[in-house]
Amino acid sequence: MTTVGWLSCSQADVPDGDGWLSPREQATLAALRLERRRMDWRLGRWTAKRAVRAWLGACAPGALDAVEIIAAPDGAPEAFVAGRAEPPALSLSHRDGVAVCTVAPSKTAIGCDIEAVEAHSDAFVTDWFTEEERAAVQASPLSSRALVTALVWSGKESALKALREGLRLDTRDVVVRFGVSPWSDGLRWESFTVVGPSGRSCFAGRWRHHLGHVLTVVTPAPWDSDPAALVGSASPHRGLCSSTRLPLS
Ligand SMILES: CC(C)(COP(=O)(O)OP(=O)(O)OC[C@H]1O[C@@H](n2cnc3c(N)ncnc32)[C@H](O)[C@@H]1OP(=O)(O)O)[C@@H](O)C(=O)NCCC(=O)NCCS
Repeated sequence: MTTVGWLSCSQADVPDGDGWLSPREQATLAALRLERRRMDWRLGRWTAKRAVRAWLGACAPGALDAVEIIAAPDGAPEAFVAGRAEPPALSLSHRDGVAVCTVAPSKTAIGCDIEAVEAHSDAFVTDWFTEEERAAVQASPLSSRALVTALVWSGKESALKALREGLRLDTRDVVVRFGVSPWSDGLRWESFTVVGPSGRSCFAGRWRHHLGHVLTVVTPAPWDSDPAALVGSASPHRGLCSSTRLPLS
């Protein structure tokens, strides 16, 4: 059985100084000009480093700057861990001051995404969704359309990250499918699948609500039907930080 871990941090968790960033990471940060982008990037790095450290457990290096999160040429984040030849795979998303990092065994094609649940125009759905996805949105109750739209979009972004392509691919190249009504309460993990370009790949997904957003995560492996939260902690003075390991079959 494979496991996936996830960890979420908010802007308030991120320390003011940059001593926890490695020299390579500090050089990347120095090249980012927009303050908003710098804040998102630092939040993502803080979350990812903590997630990778939590994943490695007792084997993790002591200092946070010994876990580096470096973008590969295609843009996908990769972990480099001092003294470890095969670091875990990860995926990152940040939105509205909240970041999520998902971690999986080395070389797993993993993708995650958080999205706000908000109204979108019909044109958005027409332009970015497949016919099948448009039909799913149309078939959902009016009160759930924003949620279903957010889930389809987030599922797509997760799959496009797992493929390491992002928006270089047409969003209509991947098809998000929900086996049961996606408009359940979402307070626990729910299932969905994503069929990749030309049906060549298929991803198994999980989604849930998270801090007023939806969170999706996909991997190529099928998921266990009953994922369990293994760890959860909150740092009351610095905002929410929680991690969960989800079993995959
Ligand atoms: C992947 C992508 C869809 C995510 O955008 P988003 O939904 O606005 O932002 P999210 O917060 O959910 O995700 C951003 C994270 O995705 C990750 N990411 C970026 N490119 C990625 C790729 N090709 N594969 C996997 N993950 C990627 C990064 O970790 C990034 O955060 P960081 O830059 O702070 O490290 C978008 O960055 C993309 O399409 N990138 C590749 C193509 C590209 O660079 N195009 C230029 C803009 S269209």
